[in-house]
Amino acid sequence: MKIVKTAKEVREIIKEWKREGYEIGLVPTMGYLHEGHKSLIDRSVKENDKTVVSIFVNPTQFGPGEDLESYPRDLDRDAALVEEAGADLIFHPEAEEMYAEDFCTFVDMERLTKGLCGKTRPIHFRGVCTVVSKLFHIASPDRAYFGQKDAQQLAVIRRMVRDLNFGIEIVGCPIVREEDGLAKSSRNTYLSKEERQAALILSKAIFLGEQMIRDGETDAEKVKSAMIGTIESEPLAKIDYVELVDWGTLEPVQTVRGSVLGAIAVYIGTTRLIDNFLSVRE
Ligand code: PAF
Repeated sequence: MKIVKTAKEVREIIKEWKREGYEIGLVPTMGYLHEGHKSLIDRSVKENDKTVVSIFVNPTQFGPGEDLESYPRDLDRDAALVEEAGADLIFHPEAEEMYAEDFCTFVDMERLTKGLCGKTRPIHFRGVCTVVSKLFHIASPDRAYFGQKDAQQLAVIRRMVRDLNFGIEIVGCPIVREEDGLAKSSRNTYLSKEERQAALILSKAIFLGEQMIRDGETDAEKVKSAMIGTIESEPLAKIDYVELVDWGTLEPVQTVRGSVLGAIAVYIGTTRLIDNFLSVRE
């Protein structure tokens, strides 16, 4: 497995692979990989001849005062995991490689990005769409893999790929959880022991909402209230949002029907965590 730092090197390798007729999977990441990322790499390795993993903490998706500088990084550990999983190439650019000093072209989206995480992170999805577009142009994958954990991101990228005719299959992969239910996230490393325990309130609320709908509840307000009540029972938790939205439009719903995303963002101390469930009902 190779690690390269420039778009030119990636392009040369991909060109050779395409000449051989290989299908290519891309797993975009910001590094500090965990089993959630591993599940994406495993799936890509299974479904493609070659897998590229990008590791890049993308500055344009972090707002002022967010955790760009403190975001955890460990390339050696990441490289070992990627190699072990059977991927073929890591693209690990510096910020200057991705963004020239006078960079001024962005990919923005008018819908899907305003609610949920977009409310507290207004420039986040512009940064995500921009960097993912760049990665798609650099690696020209046949398929790209994203976790359902970042459900809004997955919906936004699917829409971008459709709207801008990227011709890349976007594969969404299930949330991977710790044994006690907490969704795997690189940001879990910020939690103190006490906060780690308190963070279980997220999955508790998610499982409750999911179960209420499975049991036949269709009133979105009732489901939301129960989830909010659960989260508020934890003194270290502060709700950013609890929403039930249509999975196609990401607009809030009043009645649960069709495909509905239950999504939450909660501060545990100063760490903002997200979690969600997807309910598909005819
Ligand atoms: O999900 C992430 O880790 C990032 O948002 C992504 C897709 C790698 C873009 O920087």
